[in-house]
Amino acid sequence: MDLIKNWTDDLRYLPYDQWDTSYQTALNEIVRGSKWRQGYHIQPESGLLNDPNGFSYFNGKWQLFYQLYPMGPVHGVKSWAHVSSSNLVDWTSEGIALLPDSAYDQHGVYSGSGIVIDDELVLAYTGNVRDSNWQRASYQMLAHMTSDGEIIKDEQPIIPAPPKGYTHEFRDPQVFFYQEKYWLLIGAQTEALEGKVLVYSGDSLESLHFSGPLDFTNQSLGFMVECPNLVFIDEQPVFLFCPQGLSKKIMAYQNIYPNTYIVAETFETDRPSLTKPSPLMNLDYGFDVYATQAFNAPDGRALAVSWVGLPEVEYPSDSEGWAHCLSIIKELQLKDGQLYQKPVKELVELRQEQTPIEGRLVSQPLALAEKTNNCYELMLHFSNDSQGRLHLYSDMQRDHSFTIDFDTKNGMISVDRTHTSHTFAQDYGTTRSLALEKESPLSLQIFVDHSVCEIFVNGGQAVFTARVFPNEAEKNVYLEGTSGDFTGDFWCLRNMKND
Ligand code: FRU
Repeated sequence: MDLIKNWTDDLRYLPYDQWDTSYQTALNEIVRGSKWRQGYHIQPESGLLNDPNGFSYFNGKWQLFYQLYPMGPVHGVKSWAHVSSSNLVDWTSEGIALLPDSAYDQHGVYSGSGIVIDDELVLAYTGNVRDSNWQRASYQMLAHMTSDGEIIKDEQPIIPAPPKGYTHEFRDPQVFFYQEKYWLLIGAQTEALEGKVLVYSGDSLESLHFSGPLDFTNQSLGFMVECPNLVFIDEQPVFLFCPQGLSKKIMAYQNIYPNTYIVAETFETDRPSLTKPSPLMNLDYGFDVYATQAFNAPDGRALAVSWVGLPEVEYPSDSEGWAHCLSIIKELQLKDGQLYQKPVKELVELRQEQTPIEGRLVSQPLALAEKTNNCYELMLHFSNDSQGRLHLYSDMQRDHSFTIDFDTKNGMISVDRTHTSHTFAQDYGTTRSLALEKESPLSLQIFVDHSVCEIFVNGGQAVFTARVFPNEAEKNVYLEGTSGDFTGDFWCLRNMKND
């Protein structure tokens, strides 16, 4: 079968049941043959995955959903796909949970969140509907999952329209319970085309009222805010969101749209606001993180998962019938008011053979690992006088590789995908850099999967996430440099178990 090249609106919005089943079978076959399929990251069986949705703990399991268009690597009519896990590492597919099959969501079951109320998991989402002039209407909807896994959508929206003064760019409800009330945060746009976050509250999700826009900055957030997400860490509010069209004078970033956050002192409920907000910060310094969703888990942790992908950008795996994956699960912590993102401790379950590493950085490249299967974890600690370069996804000559340059003397790290075999999104630059404290040691915890790499710097002080698309021979790891010492470990990782 040839993959579809001309994705018209008619095709993108054709209901799934009007596709021939042989098309889906043939597409799945093509995707299964892709050289870039991941080992331990959540990925679509076919087509396009985007935002994580409904991340929650219910019925003795972690529940996670994601935006899915199964018919091709494009943004078509979206549904919520469902996966569940008992350890945050091995995820079982539970199929499609919410189909775009009602008058309130026929052009897409858009993003949202989940909350356990009594003995149900309540899912809050946006129903996306287009009229004959392709004008958008957005409805905030609920669905209920019972302990036997059945999911039933409400027939009517809980919020049937945006408040006065706002457009129908109005989506991605985050629901949480705080001070004896239910709260809903929704990404929004004013009629003057400014991005805002709107707050609803009430004694139940069926009796919400509009409490106003969330006050947390005097700065303009661009033309739209997507995926607002408030969590409390040690009772302090941490607010994650995705401003579109943000001025680079407010916060430097290179991706098409950034995923940002602020740390605040309190969440005030009377006139909804976040007090003493930090400056706006970039959640991920790499190339490909968006729409991160976090929630306060019943075990006390704040857990987060990101879409590893960006809107409006083409990726090399499109040519193999699929696009994007989710990040590994990260735990959010605050230390001295600073946000840390750490791979959840459960990920050690993936570790297989371990190889200790130790040495001095020299100009002759040292092979840390050769002919890997590009499915490993690498921990490296560098002394405070180190200058060097790490090559991942490298061929033996280092002609093609994804590189990490570090200089602990001058406090600098940068990642570079200029010399990877399948470059893309070059318009947004092929390097990303971050200044670090000078003359301090550096630690890197790196998770490599077949076409994604997540780099946790200094215990999660900063994260760089990157999709990398290597050729077959690009499976080696080299380290070279001019000064400094290093120690560390290399672990082969097993694949996710998904049954
Ligand atoms: C963010 C987003 C959301 C929307 C969803 C649609 O990536 O645009 O605002 O709900 O994706 O798939």
